[in-house]
Amino acid sequence: MKHILKGFMACIIIFCAIVNYINPTAHAQSQDEQWEKIKERGELRVGLSADYAPYEFEHNVNGKTEYAGIDIELAKKVAKDNDLKLKIVNMQFDSLLGAIKTGKVDLIISGMTPTPERKKEVDFSNPYMTVQQKMIIKKSDADNLKTIDDFANKKIGVQKQTQQEKIAQSDIENAQIQSLTRVPEVIMSLKSGKVSGMVIEGPVAEAYLKQNKDLTFADGVKFNEGTKSTAIAAPKNAPKLMGKLNASIKEVKDKNLIEDYKDSAAEAMKKDDGNFFSKYSSFFLKGIQNTILISIVGVLLGTVFGAIIALIKLSKIRVFRWIASAYIEFLRGTPLLVQVFLVYFGTTAMLGLDISALICGMIALVINCSAYIAEIIRAGINAVDKGQTEAARSLGLTYGQTMKTVILPQAIKKILPALGNEFVTVIKESSIVSVIGVSEIMFNAQVVQGASFDPFTPLLVAAVLYFILTFTLSRVMYFFEGRMKVSD
Ligand code: ARG
Repeated sequence: MKHILKGFMACIIIFCAIVNYINPTAHAQSQDEQWEKIKERGELRVGLSADYAPYEFEHNVNGKTEYAGIDIELAKKVAKDNDLKLKIVNMQFDSLLGAIKTGKVDLIISGMTPTPERKKEVDFSNPYMTVQQKMIIKKSDADNLKTIDDFANKKIGVQKQTQQEKIAQSDIENAQIQSLTRVPEVIMSLKSGKVSGMVIEGPVAEAYLKQNKDLTFADGVKFNEGTKSTAIAAPKNAPKLMGKLNASIKEVKDKNLIEDYKDSAAEAMKKDDGNFFSKYSSFFLKGIQNTILISIVGVLLGTVFGAIIALIKLSKIRVFRWIASAYIEFLRGTPLLVQVFLVYFGTTAMLGLDISALICGMIALVINCSAYIAEIIRAGINAVDKGQTEAARSLGLTYGQTMKTVILPQAIKKILPALGNEFVTVIKESSIVSVIGVSEIMFNAQVVQGASFDPFTPLLVAAVLYFILTFTLSRVMYFFEGRMKVSD
């Protein structure tokens, strides 16, 4: 008990030391050089959440997926005006502020409204658009839900961490707010009757209503602050960068380019015709590839590290054993979701490294797997009868030789099936890395939700795909297990 307590204290101390390491003053200074950094890199990284047609969404051009929308056009213009290459970083709306603060992206162009709370974290450009706030409902409810008073005490859906969340809270009496991460999820809630209405911005509502004939505007609903502006968010204290942004926005306004951007967004939304599978199969194929890739890397490297950790845990030296236990317990005792975010934001915020989401996702999975696999391997080794070690040692083999030639070959038979199960688990769990924008099956299903305005079918397809992968894998495992029994 004492050991555990000591270990726990040590963990907390190490954690505090790491947190202290992020020096806030150094960070503020470096943000002054924001613009220089972008110039030097030659690439402008724009963060957005592509679930927001006509602002930003993904669509299919000859089997290839491309970003389109008003914000994308604006991002292209800012990049072009400054001779920069453009890199779009697509993630959840509620992760964007974190991403800009940790330096994952240089700008947010994501239909974002400047608010006092957000202004504490970032600076905003001059606005480039103004939009109406709307309420949408099911057509079948149109007779009952007319004015804002009709929504009192009702469940209202909104996208998480958006202005719409605030509006619903302040304007609707005793509203029960249901916040979901992505717009298509809220739409699905509405369609399935889980919420009575959704607060949403006008242009986005129109895009979704076009594809979902069972939904309509609650026209009688008026909000106190019915119009909101939209601007680009940039890191604080970056005057030069802000100057460049405002120059581009001024030109957009002078030449009324927003109208052109709207037209091309409408065009991109239209082009997506053909049946569901011909349009979106490329998304799912890409997703399958990445899911398989990250799962294999997770299990293979996880096995390598897991084996090392298992051996450390079986070591005679107490400190080693203790370190291995702490590692395993920490990783098994914290959610993978948290670990994924820690790796993704931690690598930039603490280590100053610019690592892609895919690699971060893999690192998180490898680390997580290594803890589980370490236990599998340890259990496998322990399951080999003690007498085997005694016999080998009495024949004069060293500890290492005993392990290599006597224990491990026998342990492997016990370890392999469990490792196979771990692989199945990893395939499913890997869906969690979708939160940082790794385009595996789940992430691409969400992209298709946004692109097709159909919140349900893509989820169904994702479920079937995961099932095919895990089912095939477990069949293959049974086959090998059978073979191994025969060899006994
Ligand atoms: N304008 C709203 C806000 O700033 C919603 C923006 C949501 N954007 C998105 N790409 N989903 O809070």
